[in-house]
Order: sequence, then C-alpha cells, then structure tokens
Amino acid sequence: MNRLILCPGRIILNEHQMATILIIDDEQNILVTLSRALQLENYRTEVAGGGKVGLSKLAEQPVDLVLLDVKMPDMDGLDVLEKISESHPGLPVIMMSGHATVEIAVRAVRMGAIDFLEKPLSSEKVMVTVANTLKLRQLCEENRDLKELAGLQNRMVGDSPPMRVLYDQIKIVAPSNGRVLITGENGSGKELVARAIHENSLRASNPFIKVNCAAVPRELIESELFGHEKGSFTGASQQRRGKFELADAGTLFLDEIGDMRLSMQAKLLRVLQEGEIERVGSADTIVGDVRVIAATNQDLPKAISAGRFREDLFHRLNVIPIRVPALRERREDIPALTSHFLRQACEQNNRPAKSFAPGALERLSDHDFSGNVRELKNSVERLVIMVPDDTIKPTDVDCWMKPGLRPGNTEGTESSFYNPDLTIKEMLANAERTFILQALQNRDGHVTNAAKQLGLERSHLYKKMKALGIRQ
Ligand SMILES: Nc1ncnc2c1ncn2[C@@H]1O[C@H](COP(=O)(O)OP(=O)(O)OP(=O)(O)O)[C@@H](O)[C@H]1O
Ligand SMILES: [Mg+2]
Repeated sequence: MNRLILCPGRIILNEHQMATILIIDDEQNILVTLSRALQLENYRTEVAGGGKVGLSKLAEQPVDLVLLDVKMPDMDGLDVLEKISESHPGLPVIMMSGHATVEIAVRAVRMGAIDFLEKPLSSEKVMVTVANTLKLRQLCEENRDLKELAGLQNRMVGDSPPMRVLYDQIKIVAPSNGRVLITGENGSGKELVARAIHENSLRASNPFIKVNCAAVPRELIESELFGHEKGSFTGASQQRRGKFELADAGTLFLDEIGDMRLSMQAKLLRVLQEGEIERVGSADTIVGDVRVIAATNQDLPKAISAGRFREDLFHRLNVIPIRVPALRERREDIPALTSHFLRQACEQNNRPAKSFAPGALERLSDHDFSGNVRELKNSVERLVIMVPDDTIKPTDVDCWMKPGLRPGNTEGTESSFYNPDLTIKEMLANAERTFILQALQNRDGHVTNAAKQLGLERSHLYKKMKALGIRQ
C-alpha cells in the first residue's frame, strides 16, 4: 500500500488508490460486482471463489485487505479467518455474511476480524468500511514506525566500562523517587539519561515533561513552570497549566538548570521544599506528585562560589548525582555509536544504507569530539547527506571533518544567497539559517556558546532555530 506522501507543490498520492483487496466468496456474482465497484474507486482487486484458493492467493502476493464470506462450501469463513490471523497477523479482514448473527460477528471480531458487513451488500457501506479500515491500518503503521524511530532515537548505545557504570546507576536510581542531578559536558547524553531514568521507573506510563531553563525567556519561566491564571499578566489571555502540573505522576526534567536566574531559583526551591505550587495570579495551592530530574553542563559548585547558583537549591536537586562521561573517556564506543547514527541518518534522510570503507571509521575515530556524542551524530549525518556514494571513504571523512571545508564555510560571498526565484524574506531566512548552522557547528552544537558568538540571547536563538526548523 502506498503511503500518503505530502510534497508541497506536488501531486498528493491518495494512499488508498493502489491498495490491493482480496475478495473471498463462493458466489460468483458477488466477486464480479464487488470487484468492479472497488476497481472504479481505484483499488486493485483479486478474487477467490473459496477459502482454499483465497489462502493460496494470499501466500503468493501482498494484499492490503481481505473481504471474506462467512459461509462457503469448501471451508468455513471463520476457519479461513483463523488461518489468515496466523499467517498474516495485522492484515485487516472484513467479514461478509447473509446470515449475520451477533454470535458469529462477535466470534469473528474475537478472532481478529476488523468489521462485519451484512448481505445484501450496500456498495456505499462497503466503500466507507474499506476506506476507513485502510486508513486505520495506515495510521497504525505510521504510529508503529514513529514509535520505532523514537525507540531508536532514545536508545543508549555504548558498552565501554564507563557506560556500563552509567547503566548500573540508571537501573538502581530509576525505580526510586529520588531527585537526580545529571552533569556532563555538552552533547554527552544527559537528556538521554534523564529519559532512560523515566522509562525505567514506575512512572514510565505517565508524562515526561522537559523544560529547557535556558530557552524560556526569563519573564515567562515562572508561568512556564507553574502556570498562570487568566489576566494575571499582560498577554495571559487564557488560564494555563504549568509544566509541574503537566508532569503530575510523571517526571519533570529541568534541563540547563545552571542557567536559571537567582530569583527563579528561590521560587523553585520553595516548591521543592513544600511540594506545592501556585499558578501565577492565584492564591490556591496545587499539590502534585512530580519527580524532578535536573541537568547541567555547568560546574555548579563553581557557580555557587561565584554567587550564581543557590547552594540550598543545589543540595535539594543533587540527591542522586549522575555524571555522564565525555566521549573522549570512552573512545571505544565510537564504532558502535557511529553505526547506530549511520543507520538512523540514512533512515531519516531517505538515503540507501551506507557503510564505511576500510580505514574511514578509524579516521573518524581519530577526531577530537569536543562536542561529544552530538558532534559525532551530526558528523555522521553530514557524511550521509554529503557523500553521494554508498561507501564513505577515508578521503570523504577528511574532507567533511575539516572545519575549513565544512559546508557553508567556503565562498560565503553575499551573492551566494541570491536566488532570483525567492523573495527577499526567503533569501534572508536562508542566510540566517546558514549563519546559525555555522555558528552551531563552530561551537560543536552548543547553543549557549553559539548565541554568545552571534550576539543573541539564548532564548532568542532557540526561538529562531525553532522558526527556521533547525534541530539541535
Ligand atoms: N549513548 C548514546 N547512545 C546514542 N545516542 C546518544 C548517546 N548519547 C547521546 N546520544 C545522542 O546525542 C545527542 C545529544 O545527546 P543529549 O541531548 O542527551 O546530550 P546533552 O548532554 O543533553 O547535550 P546538551 O549539553 O547540549 O544539552 C542526542 O541526539 C542523543 O540522542
Ligand atoms: Mg541537553
């Protein structure tokens, strides 16, 4: 079955148009009329005059949906259904019967049939049921793909001794309710660790809510965390629940906690001490059950000495400290991480599977990944996109890993952004996108440092990245 392909400005394929439907029925006239009606709606059809032929057709070719009669002389429809459920789990089967009794319908649904049509068939009803069933199947497949992708993205890779220590810590810590403070260099995997703790905890089926304390403008952070009442400040046109409330029974991940301002630190401390929150503009207290995990790449004891971070808040958050090792402390993980990112990047960028030629991986491993795993991930994605061959050679690695030769660093003349087909707004957006990507690349994906270089507020840069579709 073709997937719905959304390409702006191009033809949109209807995912149902080429679906193949197998009709199994002993009544010849049903096979003919149903098949013709479905073909008129652009479905491909296959017909079988009995259960046995139907099953062998199914074994020979891919089918997207089966319309199956209940009463047939050679084989009972429910027996055929049972065989289909065994050989093709998940294949939607719609039963058809002239003797539709509730009992048969219930049995059929229990055995995996998706719907039941009563004879004489109404062609309108058949079309609606077929279209809905195919749509449902497509959504289920997409959902499964997304889950697989999310699972792949959230999987922690690496079997080095420091990673094994980390996995043990996660396993011990996860089932408790203790607050965790995750530290580590930028791009080392702190967020992944926070997610792993949540997913291995008893809260796993409840929300994991992330707040990037560096990305939220300082005047909005209180409302972001605790919510607000309608009219509590200019722009508060609706009542809004804060992230603490949204994380109820789950985990709240306070990322980049080292960047939180002192005044907000005091408010957070009070909430952690008292276990209650108040929405901005409300005197009512809300009691919740939230596990807090915080992360930072800053040296908090140093920030405390410098008067930038409250010591009492540090102790509240640092109940269980976890340090994520830098990539240079576990270089033996580079090959496994590289092949993981290679697979992921090929899938995400619609590229055929690629591999490294002998010597290329060693060249990559020699690189000093000061931006840690994120830099390795971005480098592999760059190679996947920029190297046209299926095999990435050592020379490709040399070419695309040299800062001076990275894309965008060459010939950055003003005319390179000029495009007669674009409006000035679009050209400016392209230019802005390129400059931000370059700044991020030069700062190994570290947004705070890139913002500094560009002379922007961190939150402003985050906003721009979001608007320009730049993933961190
Ligand atoms: N062990 C790992 N296995 C697989 N992927 C990883 C691993 N560690 C990090 N990654 C990937 O690297 C990227 C950076 O990881 P993450 O965002 O968790 O780092 P971070 O320490 O939170 O970074 P920052 O300091 O910039 O906030 C993510 O895409 C993440 O999925
Ligand atoms: Mg992070």
